[in-house]
Amino acid sequence: MTDVLDGVRDHYRATGLTERLKTALNSLGTEEQRLTPQQLAALDQFHTRGLAATADLAKLAGITTDMSVLDVGSGVGGPARFLAATYGCRVTGVDLSEPFVEAARYLTERTGQSGQVSFETASALELPFDDGGFDVVLLQHVAMNISDRARLYREIRRVLKSGGRFATFDIVLNEGEPHYPVPWARTPATSFLLTAAATREAIEPAGFSTLAWQDDTEAAKAWIVRLRASGPPPSPNLGVVMGPDFAQLSANLGRNLMEGRLGILSAVFEAV
Ligand SMILES: C[S@@+](CC[C@H](N)C(=O)[O-])C[C@H]1O[C@@H](n2cnc3c(N)ncnc32)[C@H](O)[C@@H]1O
Repeated sequence: MTDVLDGVRDHYRATGLTERLKTALNSLGTEEQRLTPQQLAALDQFHTRGLAATADLAKLAGITTDMSVLDVGSGVGGPARFLAATYGCRVTGVDLSEPFVEAARYLTERTGQSGQVSFETASALELPFDDGGFDVVLLQHVAMNISDRARLYREIRRVLKSGGRFATFDIVLNEGEPHYPVPWARTPATSFLLTAAATREAIEPAGFSTLAWQDDTEAAKAWIVRLRASGPPPSPNLGVVMGPDFAQLSANLGRNLMEGRLGILSAVFEAV
């Protein structure tokens, strides 16, 4: 398993990320100027449909002000900052990638949210939290990097209060093999996709009952059509985080969705 985690870490190694972000963000203002989650959305929402997908999932999960939210595989922290800014809730993020966590903390200082949003480096398979501390756990475009799904969903259940909610936004396998490289894996060695049905079969036995179940593939395809039509992406974007091949990784995700090889699932579960 360590080999797999090392492979995933290597994919998201992002050498010198915080320094690159500092340079890229010069175009949005000086270090002293506060940035909004919306200004960062093209580079810090690392999943299909970007900020709109995070906003939709938060609504589906029923997040409110008084909640304590854990974002598992929090990336560079865009979803965590958006949730805290929109709902006033406290958000903790954990991610396997040390450079991502460092970048997430830096971006959170730039948005002035460090009192409300924090990040730790840790594996989703060994969450550094006591049992039953969170009202909501979010998992957006992370599960496809994790082979031991039973352990992942057990860990998420363990840190949730009874009656708490687990909201997942996943890429799922439909038909045939995906074209690689893709944004989460440059080769199949670190990609562990399941079908939507198999995802549910892995989640429910961990102690969950299904509250909402949505096939979001068509919305994702419509987003890709709009992106293709709108010309070059806004700057700065996720290319700063993932490097110069990001355009090719994302083009392959689009192709896999359009060809019906992959699908997109949003679902919310109650911890029972
Ligand atoms: C495609 S990015 C999504 C980031 C974030 N959820 C978002 O939507 O902006 C996948 C993230 O999952 C993290 N990740 C992958 N496997 C992990 C694991 N076993 N434990 C914690 N984080 C993991 C990666 O480091 C990366 O930041």
